[in-house]
Amino acid sequence: MSVTTNTPLFSTNNMLFASGIKKSFKVGRNKLDVLKDVEINIKNGELVALMGPSGSGKSTLLNIVGGLLKADDGYIELSDYRYGIDNPIHLNELRRERIGWIFQNSNLLQHLSIEDNITLALTISGCSLKEAQKKSLVALERVGLSERIGFYPGQLSGGQNQRVAIARAISGNRTLLLADEPTGNLDTNTGEEIIKLFQELCHDSSNNFSVLMVTHDPVLASKADRILLLKDGRVVKSEQSGN
Ligand SMILES: Nc1ncnc2c1ncn2[C@@H]1O[C@H](COP(=O)(O)OP(=O)(O)OP(=O)(O)O)[C@@H](O)[C@H]1O
Ligand SMILES: [Mg+2]
Repeated sequence: MSVTTNTPLFSTNNMLFASGIKKSFKVGRNKLDVLKDVEINIKNGELVALMGPSGSGKSTLLNIVGGLLKADDGYIELSDYRYGIDNPIHLNELRRERIGWIFQNSNLLQHLSIEDNITLALTISGCSLKEAQKKSLVALERVGLSERIGFYPGQLSGGQNQRVAIARAISGNRTLLLADEPTGNLDTNTGEEIIKLFQELCHDSSNNFSVLMVTHDPVLASKADRILLLKDGRVVKSEQSGN
């Protein structure tokens, strides 16, 4: 006797699902179709690398997923949120509570201690000062820098500054980290340390956390759980990394 099971189309441990994402830009009289039909699916606890030629739309896609830019079509599901073509002005809560960002530069405020950099971001998001200080210590512990809490960015290395930026991005209960070339300014070894930290954060089962990271470096990408290749406006390849 054969037993048929009703397998759900998308398993419940999905962190993010995006479907039919389209985005064009008008430049003068020309229309540039950057994203033509993008579908991505990121599981809870997954570290995913996004690769693709320069100008293929990686940053554009991150901006749409991060609720900073409106898509022309398609939708994104993240936690309880469904969005995509909405005006980003309505997505404040999503940005504040769910998504952290990391860029090539750590973008820390040089005149504030690393603790205050994180605390400031949290108080802007609506935390009380006391709560923000508590959360900033937890975040610094998670990136292995709690002993440097009173240090200023100028007193730390580039890799440590990037760790502080990661602590700031994950502080609170953010569940998805979007990283646009986070190791672009770091040497190979320091870049690998950052990826190792991403792995630890994603694979720690007590966290509910995933990372989508743009990188041009195939060696770093191979350390992710999965690699997506964006080309000609579509994700043309999605493969488990050799990791
Ligand atoms: N606001 C905008 N107005 C017009 N064109 C834009 C805008 N933003 C992006 N583009 C165009 O969309 C395309 C994709 O840009 P995007 O920055 O997403 O590429 P990318 O894959 O991140 O490239 P890189 O690897 O160089 O960072 C480029 O051709 C870019 O010029
Ligand atoms: Mg880019």
